[in-house]
Order: sequence, then C-alpha cells, then structure tokens
Amino acid sequence: MTQSISGFMLPSISSGDRLQRILNSALNRPGEKESVDHGQPLYWPAEYFGLNQVTLFQQASAEEKSTILAIANQDLLTEIYWVEQAGVGYMAKMVLLAESKEERILYSLFAADEAQHLCQIEQFFQQKPEFNQDSFLSFMGQLLESNDKALLLTMVQVVLEGWGLSHYRSLASHCQNDRLTATLQSFLAAEARHHATGVHQLQTWSYDQLSLENIYQALREFLQMVQVGPQRLVKAIEQGKGYLSPGDRRQIFTQLQTEVQSQNKLNLLRSLMVHGVPPEILSRLEEQQCFIPYPAELC
Ligand SMILES: [Fe+2]
Ligand SMILES: [Fe+2]
Repeated sequence: MTQSISGFMLPSISSGDRLQRILNSALNRPGEKESVDHGQPLYWPAEYFGLNQVTLFQQASAEEKSTILAIANQDLLTEIYWVEQAGVGYMAKMVLLAESKEERILYSLFAADEAQHLCQIEQFFQQKPEFNQDSFLSFMGQLLESNDKALLLTMVQVVLEGWGLSHYRSLASHCQNDRLTATLQSFLAAEARHHATGVHQLQTWSYDQLSLENIYQALREFLQMVQVGPQRLVKAIEQGKGYLSPGDRRQIFTQLQTEVQSQNKLNLLRSLMVHGVPPEILSRLEEQQCFIPYPAELC
C-alpha cells in the first residue's frame, strides 16, 4: 500500500522504548495506562444501533447478541481511532501546503489537536486496534494522498469534519461510559474549529476545472457509501448469527429503517455542502440522485 499520509500502516514502537516516556511527559500523563474496565466494555447499547428493532437480533441467543454488540461497539471505536490517526497526517500535510505564516501555525496547532485526540482515544483500547481496510477508510486514505488543496479542504474539513462533529456529539450523548463521553465531548471544540477553517478558506477560493471535477467525483463516491446504508452493522450481525440469506438482509435493512436513517444523514451532508461546496457541484450531485438513499431491498 502506498498510502502514507493516513499513517494507517505505521508500526508502534516497542514497549519500554524511551520515546514512550518522553511522549507521556509531553502529553502530561502518567506512564502506566490505567485500564478502564476488564474486558472490552460496551460503550453503546443495542438501541443506539437500532438493533432492538431487528427480529433476528431479538431472537438471537444471549451469546450471539453479545458478540454482535461487541463487534458493533468495536467498529465504532476503531473507526474513531483511524480517523484521528489520519487527521494527524492530514494536518501535517496542510502545514506544508500553507500559504501564509498564520495558516502554517494554525495547521500545526490542528495537528497537535488530532495527536491529542488519537492518544486519548487509544486509552479506551485493551490492545492496539487492528486496521481493517473498510471502504470508508480506504476512501479516506486515498483522498489524503491528493495534492489538490481545494479537494482536501472540501472533503476533509468541510464534509468529513463537519459530519464528524455531529457524529461525535451523538456518540457522546448515547455513550454509557462517563470517561468516554467526556473524552468525545472534549474533541468537539477543536473539530468545530477545523471545520470552520475549511469553510472559511474555501469562501474565496478560485477553483480550477480539475479541482471541481475531483470534488464532484469524491463527493459522489462518499455519498454512495451513505446511500447503501449501515453495511458494517449488518456484517456485525452476520458475524454473530452466521450466514444471512438475501431475505434476512432485506428484513434487517427494513427493520433498521435504513431509508429514513440514511436520508437523515444525506440531509445533514447536504446542509454541510451548502457552505463550502460550489453550487454547480451540488446541483450535479442532485441530478445524479446522490442525496437519495437506496431502498432496503437494494442495500
Ligand atoms: Fe480529531
Ligand atoms: Fe479534526
């Protein structure tokens, strides 16, 4: 894999490395990781995922239920970890792409924000999270390699961080663990600043034709991942329950109210794009029905 900005493939240093002690002191935290709970705790309940509405879940054995919930929880937490990891690399890249002294300073501070977030979220893992090449992360990893600054600002700061802001808010308000709730809430101010900076920078941007095309293509690809509904959650159910027939899958997507849920997400994304995406791109996306979710049977 040639993606380097995301840092997805970076190894960790060996335990006992002196660098770790210096890092702990720079972060102003004690060396020993305090283990929060024993075993990986469940941070979000079945209701948060809508699993309580799914017949197959309701009828599952206690063991199957706990497997499904554990996977769904782990997926959410792991995604935050990798997004923050990518955020560090992204902000560092923006430092080098800066066109004024102030912009350079600002992105250096943002890189430090993301590094803090990464270290804070890492404390909630019993072991270093594994990298699963899911479609969203590979999309983001590829995107970060681009040198089209308008594309980067639009996709990362306007769309993904704007979206991340409401995602973190919702994760925080439904989280059952006070420490994780507080941690996620502590991310919000920084993420809002990252988002606002992107919106501001694009306000006076003079786009070239290639950037406009790049932005359109990237948004289309991203929106499609939302249109197809909660695929990863259904995969979690399959991991707990075993093989799901096409009929089972359709029933699950229907009971998860995929169309309604995805429509809400698409509406939110659209409202983010109104600030920061050129109107001609928005209308092209609308013509292509990119803001309309797939019905359950097509998910
Ligand atoms: Fe962050
Ligand atoms: Fe951020």
